[in-house]
Amino acid sequence: MSTWKKNETFRKQARKAGYRSRAAFKLLEIEQKFGILRKANRIVDLCSAPGSWLQVAQEKCNQSDYKIVGVDLNYIRPIEGVSVIQASIEESDLVSQILEQLTLPAHVVLSDCSPKLSGKKVLDRERQLWQAKLSLQIAVQLLEKRGHFVTKVFQTSEFQEFITQVKDYFKSVKSFKPKSSLKRSPEMYLIAKEFKGLSHQFNPDVL
Ligand SMILES: C[S@@+](CC[C@H](N)C(=O)[O-])C[C@H]1O[C@@H](n2cnc3c(N)ncnc32)[C@H](O)[C@@H]1O
Repeated sequence: MSTWKKNETFRKQARKAGYRSRAAFKLLEIEQKFGILRKANRIVDLCSAPGSWLQVAQEKCNQSDYKIVGVDLNYIRPIEGVSVIQASIEESDLVSQILEQLTLPAHVVLSDCSPKLSGKKVLDRERQLWQAKLSLQIAVQLLEKRGHFVTKVFQTSEFQEFITQVKDYFKSVKSFKPKSSLKRSPEMYLIAKEFKGLSHQFNPDVL
């Protein structure tokens, strides 16, 4: 199937299912394979506009006392039961803003960040890797022990090095390319399970 056709097919399916974007299918595939949301009821979603991952997270949270917090530079139309912070993930007090909403550490931190693409391949990939690193830095400050972290990361020459960094903090780290992600896109997802806690190794300078 051509890239354009695949894109259109997922777009139509998303519209039909009531999702705000086809990105929903990526998280649904991740969930089906890795089950990261199965027991979660405190979830943070970084870079979450227009909100389809928030919709999926809300569907999967069948407990009544769940807390879901989305963060994005852009406005996100309200979703019942979901709090939204309209801010950059680069804001220095973001972790405390999120914790104010969550009240307790998160079970899962998701990140689907993409910078505004400039068309300059190397620059765009470097910027995206920086966002993935920042998301890791935020996640380790928000997660409870044994929590999970999922991040988009573009494949660059530093991809393996980033996986090694994530492995310092999580017991298991797998890379995954959902079928709903376009083949020509450099995006991959890292599924990091079982946060080890921040006892010794956290050093924001190395991220
Ligand atoms: C691929 S979209 C996310 C789609 C989302 N997962 C969904 O399911 O609807 C990437 C998002 O990253 C956001 N973004 C890019 N840079 C950001 C930053 N510095 N802080 C917060 N959000 C950012 C963009 O505004 C965009 O909404």
